[in-house]
Amino acid sequence: MSIVTVTNMFPEGALEKLAPHCDLRTNQTENSPTAEDLKKYAFESTAIVTYLSDKIDRDIIDCGENLQLIANYGAGFNNIDVAHAAKKGIWVTNTPGVLHETTADLTWAMILGSARRIVPAERFTRENRFKGWQAKMFLGGDVYGKTLGIIGCGEIGSAVARRASGFNMRVLYCNRNRLSAEKEKALNAVYTPLEELLQQSDFVTVHTPLTEQTQHLIGKEQFLMMKPSAYFIHTARGKVVDDKALVEALKEERIAGAALDVYENEPALTEGMTELENLMLLPHIGSASFETRDKMADLVADNVLDVLAGKTPRCLVPSWGTSHGGKL
Ligand code: DGY
Repeated sequence: MSIVTVTNMFPEGALEKLAPHCDLRTNQTENSPTAEDLKKYAFESTAIVTYLSDKIDRDIIDCGENLQLIANYGAGFNNIDVAHAAKKGIWVTNTPGVLHETTADLTWAMILGSARRIVPAERFTRENRFKGWQAKMFLGGDVYGKTLGIIGCGEIGSAVARRASGFNMRVLYCNRNRLSAEKEKALNAVYTPLEELLQQSDFVTVHTPLTEQTQHLIGKEQFLMMKPSAYFIHTARGKVVDDKALVEALKEERIAGAALDVYENEPALTEGMTELENLMLLPHIGSASFETRDKMADLVADNVLDVLAGKTPRCLVPSWGTSHGGKL
């Protein structure tokens, strides 16, 4: 029977779906696997189910003598050397199409939360420091009627844009490829070069995948282009942003505030972050709703079952085919 190893904690429903079809090995603890563990899993298994925190590099892939599939439990897959896996004929899959609405919801919680200073205000109240209404207490920025700049307008960026109409916002977006006129109209979003988007937006939100081209896409120069009253929101991948430059921009009040769900050296925070009152810090919970995590796990299980049945997995990552050059 084929061995399938799930490297980290995984929803029970999806495990039950997999169990009858394979020799299922799981790690239902919060202890992340080490590189040595991952090598062992790759060596033993036909398929491994990975977290975005599992770095599946060349060395690990090379251990996978019988490995046919690396099924990532997430939409992003920058933790996997896809080109190397593809060269060896090992499928790589992700979970598109099921987490964008949930991640867009969190993005909006961060937009509203940072503009209206929800976290410090809640902490203040909890500490029993609320002694009566004050005209200048916890003033923040308005959201409705403002300009929202979306960097990366794929599934998640588009879901964020759709929600902006309820706030009567002007929406600007930049993307590697311009959207169709029909889609732009549906989203009420205007294609805008990055520099202009940064200069004009009151809220800038990042939704690009991490690639060689997007690493440190936002750094000192870009923060200098933003309005001093603007807020910066990031739920994509940590390395898209130069976190040191962000800390400097916030310290020097060159922008009004920021909210992060991802970090350059995740899970480590950059020095100075925890001291900043104008920075909201979340632990990478973009897709963390009960419903969505179950849907993601279900899709992972479907991909594994596809491969066990000798089929092409349904969610092959987009760059796989170009790297493999022939299997498809
Ligand atoms: C993803 O799927 O890439 C998300 O970051 C997980 O929350």
